[in-house]
Amino acid sequence: MRRLRPLHWGRRFFGSIRPGAPPEADVSWALGLLSPTEQPLFARMSNPDRRHAIRVARAADAGLAEGLDRRDEALVAALLHDVGKTVAGLGTYGRVIATLSGAVGGADLAELWQDTTGYTRKVGLYLRYPELGAELLAVAGSKPWVIAWSREHHNPEADWTLPPEIGRVLVAADES
Ligand SMILES: [Fe+2]
Ligand SMILES: [Fe+2]
Repeated sequence: MRRLRPLHWGRRFFGSIRPGAPPEADVSWALGLLSPTEQPLFARMSNPDRRHAIRVARAADAGLAEGLDRRDEALVAALLHDVGKTVAGLGTYGRVIATLSGAVGGADLAELWQDTTGYTRKVGLYLRYPELGAELLAVAGSKPWVIAWSREHHNPEADWTLPPEIGRVLVAADES
């Protein structure tokens, strides 16, 4: 599992408390890549999550070779990799707590807590967001790489469905 690093948490956290929707031009670029059933999933994401998604997809767009086979599918994978975070409904502070809890308690804690109620249930769901995102995307009829990347983007390379050279560009974009 590729865990978020503390430095990364800090940067992400301070990015998250800045309000505001992404610029209109970026939103229409993103929507232009998404299918009619994926668009509402993107729209449900919070402003910081949509800004992150667009930054990752723009970095992937810059990093992936022109004319690459299934290039747009890889860009949609970049845009929607964190879509499962919408399911838990945790705000920024809750996410920091969830991420720290996950770093300490791991997957067992996520399993245990998703069956509880209230706040601990949200934390448990948040820790499972890659899987929940993959389920949402399967229902939306997303392409295979899009579904797989939600589920696998924190996994080691050996567990990727995407070709490693593409996955590496998406990981670098996620951490940029
Ligand atoms: Fe993620
Ligand atoms: Fe991400």
